[in-house]
Amino acid sequence: MSKNICFIDGLEGVLKYREVDIKELVELPYDAVSYLLIRGELPGEQELAEYSARLHAERGINREVLDIIRMCNFNIDAMEALRTVICFISQFDPDLNDSSPEGNMRKAIRLIAIVPTIVATYYRMANGKEPLPPDPSLSHGANFLHMIKGSKPDPLDAEVMEKDFILSAEHELNASTFSSRVTASTMSDLYSAVVSGLCTLKGPLHGGARAEVMTMLNEVASPENAEKFVLGKIAQKEKIMGFGHRVYKTYDPRGAIFKQLAKKLAESRGDMHWYATAEAIENVVIRELVEKRGKPIYPNVDFYSGVIYKYMEIPPQLATSIFAIGRISGWIAHCFDQYDRKKIIRPRAFMLDEC
Ligand code: ACO
Repeated sequence: MSKNICFIDGLEGVLKYREVDIKELVELPYDAVSYLLIRGELPGEQELAEYSARLHAERGINREVLDIIRMCNFNIDAMEALRTVICFISQFDPDLNDSSPEGNMRKAIRLIAIVPTIVATYYRMANGKEPLPPDPSLSHGANFLHMIKGSKPDPLDAEVMEKDFILSAEHELNASTFSSRVTASTMSDLYSAVVSGLCTLKGPLHGGARAEVMTMLNEVASPENAEKFVLGKIAQKEKIMGFGHRVYKTYDPRGAIFKQLAKKLAESRGDMHWYATAEAIENVVIRELVEKRGKPIYPNVDFYSGVIYKYMEIPPQLATSIFAIGRISGWIAHCFDQYDRKKIIRPRAFMLDEC
């Protein structure tokens, strides 16, 4: 049942994947969380070693994929390249039309493994650098940072990236997961369902908010400007990016963990500037919207993750695709559940009035 994939208590700020609390999940490797989501239970030591070995062995991309990435426009968001490449590579997957659970699992592992390599390859080419091959000895987070930066990452940066992927991995029937499920409900293939998820994630009201948060931080520039900026947004009736959530009417538990991670990164670098700027924005939003107007508008998953990317010197063009690297395991878990149901999702138009 899909309700077992994820549990959210939006009033108490509780989030669980497969009944494991997010606070415990962030202490695990991403591979274990990915296994939990797509297979339904946490792996034992041996199972995790085998799963990681398979996943890490599937990270590479071939010459044809490199050529396709080389033809992309390097001045746009990495999500455009990611979507294009996933569409392209499906044709070469020998299991494309094998809809058996085994065939779908093989496709799932290939997809989860290859997405970070596509994003990192695009990023390096866009910056005039030679792409780097993945390193199978590294974790999901460390390998991604290694591929974009060109050197083994600092252990804290690798830990934060790993936790970012975990915090982004699953969130029940959010817009992109719903899109993936609708595609899977027609018994279309897993690549198509993942492309649906990517297309929906990139919107600024969903995963695209992370990049917008980074732009906002640049605009605010320092803590002293937060008050004027937020009051201006409220006066113009504009949304403040990285705040508010359809389900959480309290602090988003992922937002709270991202905040701790952002603080840790800031302290480790001896540079509190971006953290202090973000916290100043948060304080004004909470004072104005929560305390004065009674609206439950708190930082969501996209707010302090944007701060983390400022410290890690990850540009906004990569922010949404990093979200996708994490979220793909959640999409796939939902697609598997949908395939088992063998029932098309076909809502009626009047239901849109409730959205
Ligand atoms: N800034 C200011 N006001 C806000 C914000 C915000 N970020 N979010 C909601 N509000 C206000 C609205 O103006 C509205 O006020 P009103 O009742 O006076 O008209 C009220 O709160 C309800 O807002 P809705 O847009 O109806 O809330 P909804 O549940 O539909 O939207 C959403 C949730 C889309 C996340 C919204 O809060 C938003 O646009 N936030 C900014 C974008 C963002 O950060 N998106 C990422 C969400 S997390 C994710 O998808 C991964």
